[in-house]
Amino acid sequence: MRVSAKARYLFAVFRALPGSEQVATSYAIEGLLRWLRRRRPQHLYEAGAGLGTLSAAILTTAPVDNASFRYQLEERHVECRALWERRLGPLVGTDIVRTPDWTPPPRPFDFVVVDGPHGPYWHHLAPRAIVFFEGNRVTERADLASALRRRRRVAWANWRPLDRSKGFWVAHLDPTRLESCRFALVRWREWGLDRLICPWTGRWPGWRRRDRGGAEA
Ligand SMILES: C[S@@+](CC[C@H](N)C(=O)[O-])C[C@H]1O[C@@H](n2cnc3c(N)ncnc32)[C@H](O)[C@@H]1O
Repeated sequence: MRVSAKARYLFAVFRALPGSEQVATSYAIEGLLRWLRRRRPQHLYEAGAGLGTLSAAILTTAPVDNASFRYQLEERHVECRALWERRLGPLVGTDIVRTPDWTPPPRPFDFVVVDGPHGPYWHHLAPRAIVFFEGNRVTERADLASALRRRRRVAWANWRPLDRSKGFWVAHLDPTRLESCRFALVRWREWGLDRLICPWTGRWPGWRRRDRGGAEA
């Protein structure tokens, strides 16, 4: 996946801020931009908004002018909330709901972005919703998987850059057969790339790191 100039620009702007060590990677930003364009969500929830890198991607791509558009974001860290407000507050209307903690929504979310602490959003997922995880987010993915087990059908896939560093995960609820096949192909491609590239770089993805004593991926 080629990282666009827009994703590189958003990363550079937020990475230049003080305390920006934890902002999303340009690869994850690119992935989010592509999923937002593909799905054009009407009701979004972002957990762990941090400094607002992914919020900026959302606000500049999602159909925010649409009357039915609703965007709820949660950030528990006081300083991050202040920085988010300073940076993005003037750009957004009061109808963008910013909460310090989880607040149940008035209608189900069709798109969720997880990059930090979150509430039990899985009780509020619309049919065919997309849940996007920045990086690996092992605990958060396990939370979602166990909450949905035997309740909803979910296709999972992980996209990572060629250097095999962390990328992003997507959970697609209620996928069609074609979408399930596409996700299976992505998993198969990533598995193949790991076997081709990781022995040369010595860097294995997170789930192999412990087993092999390899370097941080
Ligand atoms: C990975 S960060 C979220 C980054 C955000 N998605 C972004 O790309 O700007 C996850 C959590 O770390 C916490 N955090 C603490 N210090 C932070 C900092 N300096 N920058 C970003 N997040 C920080 C926040 O509470 C945030 O919800």
